[in-house]
Amino acid sequence: MSWKEKINSDRVPAHVAVIMDGNGRWAQQQGKMRVDGHRSGVLAVRETVEAAAAIGVKYLTLYAFSTENWNRPKEEVDALMELLVHTISAELKTLADNNIKLETIGDWNSLPENCRRQLTSAIEETSSNSRMTLVLALSYSARWEIVEATKNIAAKVKSGEINVEDIDATMFSSNLTTAKYPDPELLIRTSGEQRISNYLLWQLAYAEFYFTETLWPDFGKEEFYEAIVNYQGRERRFGKTSAQIMTETLNNLVSEHFSSGNSK
Ligand code: IPE
Ligand code: IPE
Ligand code: MG
Repeated sequence: MSWKEKINSDRVPAHVAVIMDGNGRWAQQQGKMRVDGHRSGVLAVRETVEAAAAIGVKYLTLYAFSTENWNRPKEEVDALMELLVHTISAELKTLADNNIKLETIGDWNSLPENCRRQLTSAIEETSSNSRMTLVLALSYSARWEIVEATKNIAAKVKSGEINVEDIDATMFSSNLTTAKYPDPELLIRTSGEQRISNYLLWQLAYAEFYFTETLWPDFGKEEFYEAIVNYQGRERRFGKTSAQIMTETLNNLVSEHFSSGNSK
């Protein structure tokens, strides 16, 4: 039985976030240049996007380039930006075929002009697609995002648009770059590293974390489905006790049973 067949279609996470890591080590293992690892990673991106859309994931957020990645050697940064521009135009057909909308989060001001242009046109072209939203985190870091949101809120208080008392978690979330998306239920990180690397710090507050040793270029559909099955085996308690969660689940099952008319 494949991993895909083991998925419970009623409990597919609406939002999956991924830290695509290990391109450099993959290249090193093959005796290739780091940039070859990034190039090979593009196929894994396509596989993951198609896999997520196929099971009904509504939002897939991929960490493609962090604020801290600007500190890598210039040749690698330049190659990554070039690869991004090329990949977006090459993958437009995949997005169209799968009815997928492209969006981004991150600091656009730091991206090269040709990259912004390519992104703008791809975002426009895919804007009416509705099956899934693919969010690329580009020049993104969670601390940058949280500081930006704080500045926004402070400016609104200063101008009198809102009061300090209006600030709560919901309002804070609505000032983040991810305001339109639900929080990810699942975070996947490849390459064996078990850290968050400044990714979606606020939004991952209650996400389930899944780590795999697989290096990003070797990641594919079946491994994505394995992560989903693993996620579905977890009990998400949100601070409550296991007994409370079981009672709630039973109550939901009973009310679903009666509302669907099965009681007759
Ligand atoms: C992830 O792979 C891709 C980016 C960060 C852009 P890495 O380039 O971090 O690969 P490793 O961690 O060096 O193996
Ligand atoms: C995180 O990977 C960023 C992306 C995957 C784009 P890194 O490889 O840059 O993370 P660290 O530096 O090892 O934590
Ligand atoms: Mg890395």
